[in-house]
Amino acid sequence: MSENLMEKIVSLCKRRGFVFPGSEIYGGLANTWDYAPLGAQLKKNIQDAWWKFFVTDRMDMVGLDAAILMNPKVWQASGHVDCFNDALVDCKECKARLRADHLIEEALDDVKVEGLELTDLDKLITNNKIKCPKCGATDFTKARVFNLLFQTHIGPVAEDSEPVFLRGELAQSMFVNFRQIQETSRKKLPFGIAQVGKCFRNEITPGNFIFRTIEFDLMEFEYFIKPEEWKERFDYWLDEMHKWLDVVGIDPKKTRVREHDEKELSHYSDRTVDIEFETPFGWKELYGLAYRTDFDLKNHIEKSGKDLAYFDPETNTKLVPHVLEPTFGLTRSVLMVLLSAYHEEEVENGKGEKETRVVMKFNKNIAPFKVAVLPLVNKLNDKAKEVWEQLSPHFVTDFDTSGTIGKRYRRQDEIGTPYCVTVDFDTLEDESVTIRDRDTMKQERVKIEGLTEYLENTLK
Ligand code: GAP
Repeated sequence: MSENLMEKIVSLCKRRGFVFPGSEIYGGLANTWDYAPLGAQLKKNIQDAWWKFFVTDRMDMVGLDAAILMNPKVWQASGHVDCFNDALVDCKECKARLRADHLIEEALDDVKVEGLELTDLDKLITNNKIKCPKCGATDFTKARVFNLLFQTHIGPVAEDSEPVFLRGELAQSMFVNFRQIQETSRKKLPFGIAQVGKCFRNEITPGNFIFRTIEFDLMEFEYFIKPEEWKERFDYWLDEMHKWLDVVGIDPKKTRVREHDEKELSHYSDRTVDIEFETPFGWKELYGLAYRTDFDLKNHIEKSGKDLAYFDPETNTKLVPHVLEPTFGLTRSVLMVLLSAYHEEEVENGKGEKETRVVMKFNKNIAPFKVAVLPLVNKLNDKAKEVWEQLSPHFVTDFDTSGTIGKRYRRQDEIGTPYCVTVDFDTLEDESVTIRDRDTMKQERVKIEGLTEYLENTLK
């Protein structure tokens, strides 16, 4: 994958209105990003497709939309206050603050750092004379532990109030609500609770555009099972996660599954695999699947003193369910969908010359606009508006009047619109329009009367 593909994606996102740097007119705020009109629609389409695929199309799944702020005791019980940490070093020369594991991995091939003790990290850095990527010095402070939970305060006077945490993952609200959700929805094991929403982490090394940010969106579910079933259901959910890649349009040839070894496992997990994606900056985690055992429910039962056990009507006994957790970064999905969709093709420009067309080959269900209505000249705007009014209740439809028709086709290619509908002078005579297909660039004449049905069939 070409090194500058990321630059091309970042530039396209800014130029066409997918993603802008956050608060840019004030000089920005590092690693914050605003989803502009097309990015907001793309993100929403991914979220909606996920909710449909994993929640509403299934009988064994229910949804939740919980508060971002939770009682701090939740994060103590979950282990995040003690264990949700990264190791940091500071360059003594230029004062750059760096993640010890990233520093080592970037300098030394084939060294696995996950799970190493702080002293081991220090030894690797000193013995290998690893250089600071910012200034080249080799003198670092000792590695220190840094908690990733994002603290804030409730109330107007920070000093007088207890700190609370912005949630670092969605999972905990699914655990603390488990019993009430099970009782009110009357679900029997196995079943899942799904949620989509913002999470916050005080990441030490955010970056690579929207890949790793301090504030991001997650889509995840906790699937509650009987303990003896976990292996078979783990395989099942890994398969479903692969099916999802197809639904959302993430290139499966650029993904692989990586098993966490024992040292790398999170404090709550007995088995975790990552689905990784080959980005222009290396193989990176896209999604995760973890077997969280009964770790979370047991801790919440113990720390809250509340009975969160499940009554099994088949055996007339109580049990604490075990949990499988498929987790999907939503904003990270946006990036991988953009990387998968980006294509450059050599085409003829109509004057017999070759030119490069950039086309975002989004899956049709994910594309921000499904169709664009283009009047050939401004005189045809009224007729074209009639066509837009017919289509817009059925599909998110763009209306584009500026520039030559060729330029408008190129713009729609770049924003990934599957179909362009052109209204020309013949339309006034024959009540027909030209439909152009984004991928094949083939054009077809279709009656306005049958246009909605035609698009409904092709966009399926
Ligand atoms: N509940 C489990 C959990 O939160 P995780 O691997 O820490 O697991 C889940 O995070 C997913 O969230 C990751 O697979 C990734 O897609 C996404 N993610 C994690 N940290 C992120 C960050 N700083 N910025 C954007 N996405 C992130």
